[in-house]
Amino acid sequence: MIKIALLGYGTIGSGVAEVLETNRESITKRAGEEIEIKYVLDLRDFPGDAIQPKIVHDYEVIAEDPEIQVVVEAMGGVEPAYTFVKRALLAGRSVTTSNKALVAKHGAELLAIAREKNINFLFEASVGGGIPIIRPLNSSLTADEVEEITGILNGTTNYMLTKMTFDGSEFQDVLKDAQARGYAEADPTADIEGQDACRKIAILTSLVCGQQVDFEEIHTEGITGITAVDIKYAKAMNRGIKLLATSRKTEGGYYALVAPFLLSPEHPLYHVNDVFNGIFVHGNVLGDAMFYGSGAGKLPTASAVTADIVEIIKNKDRNIMAAWSSGKLQLLDYRQASGRFFLRTGDSREQIEAAFGDVEYVEVPEVSGEIGVLTRQMTEAEYEESAKKLNQIIQMVRVA
Ligand code: HSE
Repeated sequence: MIKIALLGYGTIGSGVAEVLETNRESITKRAGEEIEIKYVLDLRDFPGDAIQPKIVHDYEVIAEDPEIQVVVEAMGGVEPAYTFVKRALLAGRSVTTSNKALVAKHGAELLAIAREKNINFLFEASVGGGIPIIRPLNSSLTADEVEEITGILNGTTNYMLTKMTFDGSEFQDVLKDAQARGYAEADPTADIEGQDACRKIAILTSLVCGQQVDFEEIHTEGITGITAVDIKYAKAMNRGIKLLATSRKTEGGYYALVAPFLLSPEHPLYHVNDVFNGIFVHGNVLGDAMFYGSGAGKLPTASAVTADIVEIIKNKDRNIMAAWSSGKLQLLDYRQASGRFFLRTGDSREQIEAAFGDVEYVEVPEVSGEIGVLTRQMTEAEYEESAKKLNQIIQMVRVA
């Protein structure tokens, strides 16, 4: 019998308790031992819930109980999660977490402690919800130099953009809907401003390059500026708008970017809709691979956390995570990346062509008083220089 402690009984923590109960028999068989939740740390009480007798309000109860072998962190946020997780690892207890903010900020240090103690710090649920992506990068794809990872890594914004595209819903209404479904972060700003996707691509990039990628250094744009008119233009171009998080390895190093992009139906991520996430990986020997599935929500995320618990039990005296050192990776300036840009502007065709040269015009009959235009291929830096020559840019969306 393995006794575990859950830190947090919110959406994910209660999901883990539910998964352990629903699939008790098969999980026990796969882990080789029964798993018992001994404590649940939460500030709240849950009268009437079967979990109530296990609720504790003080981490010291867990810290002082030598029976606890695994700690499951589902509190979210960096503190006090970091302090509790670090203490657990230093005390020789393996930890699993769904907390991308924690992993992006302190992953290298926590992995080093786990390595040192010959235990495990696992975080499958921190990226892509229920989709296996951390373990594949850490094991199945270790023969490759991963040259590109591009993902729809935030379920909330993908759900919102899908609803805005197919139902014509308004931004605020779809945000409320996503929150009610348990997809969004406690503060949904992290979703809609792209910070959640930014932390996730920082984690994936750190894993493939083996160094620390500071998420603060990834240029990040969210979807708060995307309007119904942008979606009309996207449809006129037979494209969809998706929030992409991308990192690429070039000869000079890695660059990363999070921003809304226009995708054509040929793009592997175009058909990833609703709360689903999709992660496209290109390896130098593998070629292309796609990981697709439930990207957020209680049970999909809890499924990944619970699988980590099983993995921890199966590897009791063996550290299994890849090297991700604290040595910092200096990202290249994303302005060196090149692509096409879609612009809406109040400037004239003469001004546009003087600034950008040859362009393609995009017509949306019901929109007047502005011009929609697709630029040629250029670097971000060139785009910025050209854009300075215009006076009335209403919107810019990159083309994937
Ligand atoms: N708020 C996150 C999302 C939850 O919408 O993707 C899963 O990390």
